[in-house]
Amino acid sequence: MAEDESAHTPALTVVRDVPSLRRRVQAMRAAGKTVGFVPTMGALHAGHLSLVDRAQKLADAVIVSIFVNPTQFGPDEDLASYPRKDAEDWEVLSAAGIDLLFMPDADVMYPHGFQTVVRVPGVSQGLCGAARPGHFDGVATVVAKLLLQVLPDYALFGEKDYQQLAVIQRLVTDLNVPVDIVGAPTVREGDGLALSSRNAYLTEDERKIAPALYRTLKTVAGDIAKGEDAAGCCEAAVAALEAAGFSSVEYVEVRDAETLAENPAPDRPRRVLAAAHLGKARLIDNVPVP
Ligand code: PAJ
Repeated sequence: MAEDESAHTPALTVVRDVPSLRRRVQAMRAAGKTVGFVPTMGALHAGHLSLVDRAQKLADAVIVSIFVNPTQFGPDEDLASYPRKDAEDWEVLSAAGIDLLFMPDADVMYPHGFQTVVRVPGVSQGLCGAARPGHFDGVATVVAKLLLQVLPDYALFGEKDYQQLAVIQRLVTDLNVPVDIVGAPTVREGDGLALSSRNAYLTEDERKIAPALYRTLKTVAGDIAKGEDAAGCCEAAVAALEAAGFSSVEYVEVRDAETLAENPAPDRPRRVLAAAHLGKARLIDNVPVP
């Protein structure tokens, strides 16, 4: 009779407090292991798992965190309704073979008396920062805390949230946090829609409209690469998204791919970024200018 492999695999450990987390990480270090870290807000999909996979290739042990961080949600945003799937996420991460799952409660991350804010004003301005005031302060603060709690060798972030990646890269450089920030490409559905926990908010009809965001960004990037005027291309893209059925378009912009500075010269690496609303969902995406 074939042996049940799973009977020999120890269950994935969940830690909820910082001292237990530090003890586990110390044990990994004592065993000579390098540590890769993937911070998430849960409701895991193939995009998150691509980061886990990449972390497993880079490091000997992989830690994932799940924490729906209240400080990065605005007062009118979806904190209460944000999808929470703890049991399913645990199953998926167990199957992926990660080494430790960190799931702190809000009072572990923000105990009574908490005051500090980490702010990266330059790269946090404009784009998503314009419509979501305080959002990147919340992200920068929680990521700084998570990095100091885990102290990994590598931390992985998706290019899907391109401005977030730039904010984190800047904060790690500025504060000399001893970690390699690794950006990973966006994982997409077959029709091009970037995977996102918030895609769950789309109705069937909206889901058919949603891939227009990626298609439109690809068109802008291609036209700009051919030498067309960036501002004109972005204006046309806003009109195209509205015509496709998006309820409103927050921005379509071309930025320097490294600094996110406006009006990048053609000899600089460039990125086209957009945010648009479709029903209850706010969708973001970005592509490189080839
Ligand atoms: P969350 O939205 O759960 O995303 C966790 C990580 O997965 C982020 O680095 C994000 O860029 C990446 N990701 C999301 N969708 C992806 C996709 N389709 N392809 C590749 N990577 C993808 O981003 C956050 O959580 C939070 O802001 C966090 C960094 C955890 C701080 O609270």
